[in-house]
Amino acid sequence: MAEEPNRWEDVYQSKAEAETSWFEDRPQVSLDLIAATGATSDAAIVDVGAGASRLVDCLLDQGFLRITVLDLSDTALAKARARLSDDVPVEWVAANVLDWEPSGLFDVWHDRAAFHFLTDVADQEAYLQVMDRALVPGGQAIIGTFAPDGPEKCSGLPVARYDAALLAERLGPDCQSARNPDPLSAPKNDPLILRRGSWPDAV
Ligand SMILES: C[S@@+](CC[C@H](N)C(=O)[O-])C[C@H]1O[C@@H](n2cnc3c(N)ncnc32)[C@H](O)[C@@H]1O
Repeated sequence: MAEEPNRWEDVYQSKAEAETSWFEDRPQVSLDLIAATGATSDAAIVDVGAGASRLVDCLLDQGFLRITVLDLSDTALAKARARLSDDVPVEWVAANVLDWEPSGLFDVWHDRAAFHFLTDVADQEAYLQVMDRALVPGGQAIIGTFAPDGPEKCSGLPVARYDAALLAERLGPDCQSARNPDPLSAPKNDPLILRRGSWPDAV
């Protein structure tokens, strides 16, 4: 089953942002992948399982105007919000993605290291149904997971690890995958990133 919020609340309440293993001062890989979608500043972008990530800060700096940030943890969202002014064009959603009913459609779905916490096939399918409903036709998804040689757990929780074929099978047709230079990989895990949709550029 998807993890209850309290587990993640504990993580974000007990650790400073930079103490989490997934912290990035600047999420450059995600930014590059989002840029590769060809999204322009009016594109609707959702960061699913965003935690306290600085991706939203960077997207705002780049001029994106329709950003949604979703996470199970209120504390994580509060940490991100505290860095930003009150009037930024961001919708903050404290929710389990599996239960989420988006208020609109998205051009880009970004998920760095949330999907892989769904270890039950039923939850994975529920996630993908939400994603499919949330994306515009031709919308693009960027999903980063641990690869088979990555850790078996993160924050004490088991993860489902994927190679390119398995992740493509889970996400359905029209996928491309790439070995990911994500810093989350250091020193030993090897996340995969999978992109769905038609990509104008190779990354
Ligand atoms: C390893 S952290 C990655 C955070 C962020 N994506 C980053 O790269 O900094 C995983 C995040 O996924 C969130 N998460 C896990 N399962 C979720 C779910 N079912 N719905 C929404 N968020 C979830 C957790 O609260 C946590 O913030």
